Amino acid sequence: MTSFQKRVFSGVQPTGTLHLGNYLGAIKNFVELQKEYECIYCVVDQHAITVEQNPNELRSNTLEVLASFIAAGVDYKEQIIFQQSSVAEHSQLAWVFNCVSRIGWLNRMTQFKDKAGKNRENVSVGLMVYPNLMAADILAYLATHVPVGDDQKQHLELSRDIAQKFNNDFKVDFFPLPEPLIYGNATRVMSLRDGTKKMSKSDASELSRILLTDSDDDISSKIRKAKSDSDLIPEDKDQLQNKPECLNLINILSACLDQSIEKTLAGYAGKEYSKLKNDLADTLIQVVGPVRKKILNLLDNKDELNKILQVGSEKASTIAGPIIKEVYKIVGFK
Ligand code: TYM
Repeated sequence: MTSFQKRVFSGVQPTGTLHLGNYLGAIKNFVELQKEYECIYCVVDQHAITVEQNPNELRSNTLEVLASFIAAGVDYKEQIIFQQSSVAEHSQLAWVFNCVSRIGWLNRMTQFKDKAGKNRENVSVGLMVYPNLMAADILAYLATHVPVGDDQKQHLELSRDIAQKFNNDFKVDFFPLPEPLIYGNATRVMSLRDGTKKMSKSDASELSRILLTDSDDDISSKIRKAKSDSDLIPEDKDQLQNKPECLNLINILSACLDQSIEKTLAGYAGKEYSKLKNDLADTLIQVVGPVRKKILNLLDNKDELNKILQVGSEKASTIAGPIIKEVYKIVGFK
């Protein structure tokens, strides 16, 4: 296997204000990885339209995700941040991958099954081939490492299968098999209202998630109202397995403080939830507060944000252009 230059790629959908799951599961790691890797971060608006979007909201959400990347600490001057739809190579490679990937593989995707539910005949074709576009996002840059939350693991396995099948079908060693980077104490942040459900933008309850734009008061009140139980906090990590809400609060605090779950738990064992909740609210205010302020500041200057996207797209095309040219040669288009 060719040794590929180490390169990070990841994407976030502009489908609403980002939440703590997006931040702790992915964006916090995006920031850290910049120290070591060349990084490319994308606002994946083409993925967003696999379900219905309001065009004006999509445009403004795109700028908000960009602002959130920058506010969290992504260095747009050193790295590349851009909008998926403005780099045509993503769609070009996605079509090739639509012809490499197998329907059976896509049918097994749990996210597709969850989103399509009983409505399978009626969802968009885009929703089904969504993971093929994801593979194209990553492989248009021959990216080797992909930081994501736990929910994207299966999609990344499919990206590896597509890369491998392309290499086998055309007898080349062209695409790397991208490695998922799923790490930290918050790879799966759960809903504050139900510790068995993932924190998500689409949950009907606002109380289920902390948004990166939430005020300090919102944060305190959501944490205070977070589901818990009337027991004291257990001493042992194993006892948390049947207390998903408690485990979630401990995980979030550990991720914010960059410390092990054991260490966090030791501070609260045998205590009431109120102490944990007060400390967690204070910590989150310190983590989210500065990010919120920067997001709101950045959104005051939309022209500047649009310029950043423009420069990012040009830098991204410079990398993806020659790679897609090679792909076209390999498949026999040129
Ligand atoms: P998206 O937009 O749903 O989420 C963005 C990132 O946030 C992570 N995440 C979470 N992590 C922990 N706990 C949670 N509750 C939580 N919710 C979301 C996601 O895992 C993701 O890393 N398909 C992708 C976007 C995408 C992509 C790509 C990612 C498109 N192309 C190429 C990597 C590489 C998605 O819908 O993420």
